[in-house]
Amino acid sequence: MAEWFGQTLNFCISAWNNLVATDRMLIIIAAAVILSFAASDIITNLLGRKKKQALGTLRKARHKKAKGIRFGLIGRKVVYSPTEAEGHIAVVGGSGLGKTSALLIPTLRSWTGHFMTIDISGDICKNVAAPDKLIYDPAGKNTVPYNIFGMIDKFHNDTAKDEALSQLAYLLMPPTKNSDDAASYFLSEGRKILIASLIAFYHQGLDFVEICEKIISSSWQQLFTAIDNTKYTPAIMYINGFAGSNEKNISGCMQSCTASITLFATNQAVKQSIGRPPEGKNAITPASLENHNLFIVVEDAKLKLYAPLLHIITAQTLEFLSARKITDNYKTILLALDEFVSLGHLEITEALRKLRKRKVRIMVLTQSIADLDMMYGQAERKSMLANFKYIAVLSASDSDTQEYLARLVGRHDVRNTSISVSAHATTRTHSKSKEYIIEPHDFAHLGKMLVLLHDEGILRLHKDFYFKH
Ligand SMILES: Nc1ncnc2c1ncn2[C@@H]1O[C@H](COP(=O)(O)OP(=O)(O)O)[C@@H](O)[C@H]1O
Ligand SMILES: [Mg+2]
Repeated sequence: MAEWFGQTLNFCISAWNNLVATDRMLIIIAAAVILSFAASDIITNLLGRKKKQALGTLRKARHKKAKGIRFGLIGRKVVYSPTEAEGHIAVVGGSGLGKTSALLIPTLRSWTGHFMTIDISGDICKNVAAPDKLIYDPAGKNTVPYNIFGMIDKFHNDTAKDEALSQLAYLLMPPTKNSDDAASYFLSEGRKILIASLIAFYHQGLDFVEICEKIISSSWQQLFTAIDNTKYTPAIMYINGFAGSNEKNISGCMQSCTASITLFATNQAVKQSIGRPPEGKNAITPASLENHNLFIVVEDAKLKLYAPLLHIITAQTLEFLSARKITDNYKTILLALDEFVSLGHLEITEALRKLRKRKVRIMVLTQSIADLDMMYGQAERKSMLANFKYIAVLSASDSDTQEYLARLVGRHDVRNTSISVSAHATTRTHSKSKEYIIEPHDFAHLGKMLVLLHDEGILRLHKDFYFKH
C-alpha cells in the first residue's frame, strides 16, 4: 500500500515538473476555484443549521411552498409546520386580531391532508377552495345533514350498538367536575333515563331527533311505560333502579335529561339538518373526514344557541379519531376548533395526548386563557396547554394571562452597569439580573406581530392575513 502511494506521488511530482509554467498556473487557479466552492458550501450548511436550530421543527418557505400550519412571516417567507409533522396548536388572541384570517384560513388553504373546521359565519368556507368539501350549515338551505347515529348504525351487533348509544349519552350529558352532590346525582341519574330511551327506541327504528321529541313530549311516567313496552331488557335495566324512588327526585332527573336534548327536539333548523339521510343521499359523520374536508358553519349570533350541537359534533369527532387505526396511506387530519370555548366542555386533554400519534392535529383558537379557565378550571387548563407543541399569541389583555405567557417564554440574563462618580474617581459596577424576555404588559399590544412559542424557543412573526395576498 505504502509502496503504491510512494510511486503515485513520485509520478505526480515528475508530471508537475514536466509542465510548463502556464499549465501550472491554470491548475492552481482551477484548484483554488474548487476549494472556494467547497468552502462556501460548508459555510452555507453551517448557517443553515443555525437557522434550523432557531426554528426547531418549523420550516420557512416561500408562500406557494409553505404547506401546513402557517403561523406568519419572517421577511417574505412563511414560517410553518408541515402538514405531516406532529404537534397540536393553540392560538390565543382577542376578537378581530386575526386568529381566523391570519392563521386558520392560510393554514386550511395550504393543508395537504383532510380537515374539519368550525366555521363562524361561513367566512372560512367562502375563502378556502378545498376539494371534496362537505358543508354542514344548519341555518342554510342546502346543508348536507349530520348523521348523529351514523357511526352507531355501522356496528353489526346489538351489544356494540348499545355501548355506543350509552357513550353518546355521556357526550350529551358529560360529567362536570365542579358540581355539588345534588347536581351530580341529577346528572348521573338523568343520564340513565337518556341511555334507556336511546337504547329502547333506537331498536324500534327511530332516528335521533324522533327519540329526543319522544322524551321531551312525555312525562317521566309515560316515558318509563314506553320503555317498558319495548320489552328490550338492556334498556329497561337502566330505569329499574328508579322503582320506589321519591317522585320529586325522578322529576329532577327527568329535567336534567330533557335539558340536554331540548335543542334537538325543538329547534326547527337543527331538527331538519341532523339525522339519517334519505336513500341515496350523502350525510356527514366523523368518518367522512377520511375522504372529505368538513365545514361546520354557524352564525356568530347563534353560537350560544347551537352550542350543544357543536359540542356533540366535536365530541363524536374526537371519539372517532381517538379510535383511528393508522395505515401508511392515511392523510393527516386537522381538527380546527375556532371559538373553542363555545363548544362546551370537551374531553380535550386526553384527546390531545391520544391523537398526537394518530396523524391527527388539533388547532384550538380562543380569545383568552381566562376563557379556558372559566370552562375547564386552572388545573385542567394547565395540563391541556402542556400538550400544545405550538402556542401562537396575538394578544393577551388580562394580567394573569400576560404573566403566565411571560413565564412560559422565560427570562434571560441582562447585564446592568451602574456608574458612581466621586471627587477622586468614577466607578463602574457591573451586575447581572434575570429579566423576562417579553415583559407581561408587552403581550397586550403586539400589533402587526404575533409571538410563537414552539418546542425550541420563541419567534416574533408578522401576521400573514390571507386577504392581503
Ligand atoms: N376579507 C377581509 N378583508 C379585509 N379585512 C378583513 C377581511 N376579513 C377579516 N378582516 C379583518 O381582519 C381582522 C381580523 O379578523 P379575524 O381574523 O376574523 O379576527 P379573529 O378571528 O381574531 O376574531 C379584523 O379587523 C377584520 O375586520
Ligand atoms: Mg375568528
